[in-house]
Amino acid sequence: MEQLAILGGTPVRETPIHYGRQYIDEADIAAVAETLRSPALTGGPKIAELERKLCAVTGAKYAVAVSNGTAALHLAAMAAGFKEGDEVIVSSITFAASANCVLYVGAKPVFADIEQDTYNIDPEAIRSLITPRTKGVIAVDFTGQATKLDEIRAICREHDLVLIEDAAHAMGTKYKGQPVGSIADMTCFSFHPVKTVTSGEGGAITTNDEQIYRRLLRLRSHGITRNQDEMVHPTDAAWYNEQVELGYNYRMTDIQAALLISQLDKLSAFSRRRSEIVAKYNEAFADVPQIQVQREIPESETTRHLYILRLRLEQLKCDRRQFFDALCAENIFPQVHYLPVYWHSYYEKLGYEKGLCPNAEQYYLSSMSLPLYYSLKDEEVDDVIRAVKKIIAYYGA
Ligand SMILES: Cc1ncc(COP(=O)(O)O)c(C=O)c1O
Repeated sequence: MEQLAILGGTPVRETPIHYGRQYIDEADIAAVAETLRSPALTGGPKIAELERKLCAVTGAKYAVAVSNGTAALHLAAMAAGFKEGDEVIVSSITFAASANCVLYVGAKPVFADIEQDTYNIDPEAIRSLITPRTKGVIAVDFTGQATKLDEIRAICREHDLVLIEDAAHAMGTKYKGQPVGSIADMTCFSFHPVKTVTSGEGGAITTNDEQIYRRLLRLRSHGITRNQDEMVHPTDAAWYNEQVELGYNYRMTDIQAALLISQLDKLSAFSRRRSEIVAKYNEAFADVPQIQVQREIPESETTRHLYILRLRLEQLKCDRRQFFDALCAENIFPQVHYLPVYWHSYYEKLGYEKGLCPNAEQYYLSSMSLPLYYSLKDEEVDDVIRAVKKIIAYYGA
């Protein structure tokens, strides 16, 4: 048996591989440079061009580009009308921002457990948590795989709830042939550099509802409008604009928009390569009893953002921490996505207690994300697989 690097053996590779990284080509650089030479760095034509492109990619009627995915969720929570006294049901395994946006508007996040095999929010858990105060659901397409949108939409219709889809992981994913972004009441995206396409920082909300769209546009820019029909004191004076509600400066710059437009040209190629890597991992781990491979639902045609290595700890003589550290010593640097949101100390202070979502907690204690990005080479994927199997051979014996 090979000696583990953490115990003094030779690592599977000399240079590190991290779990994610962006891919920027010369076309991206040229697009940004062209915008830098143009008169408009912000508030210019690239935002409208990007929003048209986001509509084309997602099939949504309207898109609003914003400064990041968290801003997208915040504005979506405002446009949904969530407020103090309301409850909003949120996935328990997600980045904190999915729930923080509910707190931003004074409402209460209620955490729903995940399915043990897809790691997405369990529609039955949603159903069981509905009270007269429930006003919405924020469902995350975790790892890029679409949540069970038909079931969740039916629950929302039945109980008159607003459905916000957090598709921060899922740009490019389709559900039953329909692109994510045109299905929920509002869909939020993130374009952080670890995501499939990036604008540095950036986000967007897509919707088919014109009223929601107009509200999002206003909220993105301080709550200020130039439309006379939205003003309390309408005038046709060319200089006049009016703040009609409290909004924010959540605008994206034209520099970021130019980068994202160029990145979206590569979305299909990014998606294909990510699927190839996922297939390689799945094939390598399919018959390893100590690993549970994530179940893929046939309804989701997935552009995968994360590859989850889920350990069956009962068949290993180590815990997740030991496995994670052993992998780092082999020069493979995974990450953990995510702590159940209510385990964060801030949520603990708000009164949320452990034990709320058993599947989520079990998932967290046994999982980590392996390297997955467009430019990851086959030889590097092989190194990751070799390192995982080496550690399993040691702890699984
Ligand atoms: C599921 C999820 N929601 C929301 C966000 C927030 O996006 P951003 O980092 O662009 O604010 C992220 C980002 O990591 C995310 O993974």
